[in-house]
Amino acid sequence: MSASDNLLHGNGHARADLGLPEVPLAQPSEEERRAADLVLSRYPRYPRFSRDQLLPLLRDVQAETGWLSKEMTRYLSQRLHIPYADLYGVMTFYALLSTQPATRGMIRVCRGVVCQLQGAKELGQRMTELTGAGPGEPAADGQVKWEWFACLGQCDHAPALLVGEEAARDVTPERLESIVKEAAHGRADA
Ligand code: FES
Repeated sequence: MSASDNLLHGNGHARADLGLPEVPLAQPSEEERRAADLVLSRYPRYPRFSRDQLLPLLRDVQAETGWLSKEMTRYLSQRLHIPYADLYGVMTFYALLSTQPATRGMIRVCRGVVCQLQGAKELGQRMTELTGAGPGEPAADGQVKWEWFACLGQCDHAPALLVGEEAARDVTPERLESIVKEAAHGRADA
């Protein structure tokens, strides 16, 4: 058994020995496999890998691939010896982890209390006008998608939003147009 197989099968007990059906090996794309292997090489290996490293690891993988596909999730599950359901639960709990292919421009408008008081609703209306789509809907031109988000921790400069992972602060409906244009090119006008 290769080192890689050892990693995939963990402590050496075949599932069949335990009366469990064999789980087919994950089949990420070559690009995904390379990205995952690169990131995994920076973290301690099972069994020393600990759960508190999971979020940074997933963020690092997503930074390489843009999103976390099903096969990538299965691959990470097998490499990390963490059940697929656990990994998927983490990925779908944290809004900044994506199990869908990334849209080039993703804008998250804060609707925390302070931003609500400072005009978040108007920003949402303007976002719908500019993108031709409501929150969470695919953008009409496929370039910029937007959604509501919880407090971004930028309350002293409300209303705020995230362009990709960059915060834009003290945003006005007038300024949104240039933010959306820049986001369509994958840039943040913060
Ligand atoms: S409420 Fe919007 S950043 Fe805190």
